[in-house]
Amino acid sequence: MQPVNNTGLILGIESSCDETAAAIYHPQHGILSSTLFSQAELHKTYGGVVPEIASRSHIEKIGPIVDEALSLANVSLADIETIGVTSTPGLSGSLLTGLCFAKGIAYGAHKKIIGVNHLQGHVYSACIENDVPFPFLCLTASGGHTSLYFVKDYVTYDLIGTTIDDAAGEAFDKIAKLLNLGYPGGPIIEQLAREAGFKDYFNYPRMRKKNLSLSFSGLKTAVLYDLVKRNAYDLEKKIFTAADDLQLKQQVASSLLVCIKDIFIDRLDSALDEYPEAQAITFVGGVACNAYLREQLQKFAHKNQRSFFTPSPKYCTDNAAMIAFVASKKAEHGMYDDLTLDIF
Ligand code: KG4
Ligand code: ZN
Repeated sequence: MQPVNNTGLILGIESSCDETAAAIYHPQHGILSSTLFSQAELHKTYGGVVPEIASRSHIEKIGPIVDEALSLANVSLADIETIGVTSTPGLSGSLLTGLCFAKGIAYGAHKKIIGVNHLQGHVYSACIENDVPFPFLCLTASGGHTSLYFVKDYVTYDLIGTTIDDAAGEAFDKIAKLLNLGYPGGPIIEQLAREAGFKDYFNYPRMRKKNLSLSFSGLKTAVLYDLVKRNAYDLEKKIFTAADDLQLKQQVASSLLVCIKDIFIDRLDSALDEYPEAQAITFVGGVACNAYLREQLQKFAHKNQRSFFTPSPKYCTDNAAMIAFVASKKAEHGMYDDLTLDIF
């Protein structure tokens, strides 16, 4: 698809889950600012996101976060041509807060509006800072989604494989919960795995399938039963009984991370067989903050003569820069919405 017109400044708004974020994107100069309020502390005691609390926090923070983005970019609302806003997927109340705020500005200040799919934001997040050659394969791994895409250009991308149950981030989070490690599990598991030398101690089962689907819930069960076998988990009382055994926790974390690395590489290998025309591999989403996985996937890409790109950590986790970036590409192609834009 060829771009049809030049576009002005974009204000991106993201509020699909538990981050209130805004960003300003300049078509020639890129991201001018990216601001964010994380609700992590608000949800911590509940061990997961509470939708009602999330919506109320978005309502409180969205105005100041947008103001901060405008001010850091040294622009005013009058300079903005288009608002790009996440309209799907996510928590309804959270999405509605961002969308209604965006529509209010679009209506009151006569701006254009573009709804952006949050996952499309992740898919193109490696393109914000890099010139990624098309077509490319993208592995998106976050707390809610783990999927493979074949990306043809800035607005055309195909979902070629996805998890049939849990996401990879969810596996890190659930297994961390099993071990009483805290939330989110990914960074804690990475730290413990580093201490254990990123070795495979327990050889958890790798899911090997012919197609490109992924699956992580069986891995959680395998870890659980392995802990039971080691007398480290009481199934009846549902408690981890080896909380003082640091070595065990390090070895579980290390084995888990190596196992997930192998699953990712196995899927990417199959994807390259099916899409040999892919020039590059990108790795995005919250799980892509993991330095060990970044390094291992880069090695795999280079071994297969493909370039490899992954965003800075600030663009791996949820952010509005990726939403503004996608909105700008959609604007170039004339893909605007109107004030009937709804969430789904
Ligand atoms: O993309 P994201 O910020 O939010 C969603 O859209 O879900 O991803 C959050 C997920 C969590 O499951 C978290 O455990 C995981 O990303 N994560 C990591 C790391 N940092 C965050 N997983 C593995 N290693 C990390 N260093
Ligand atoms: Zn996300």
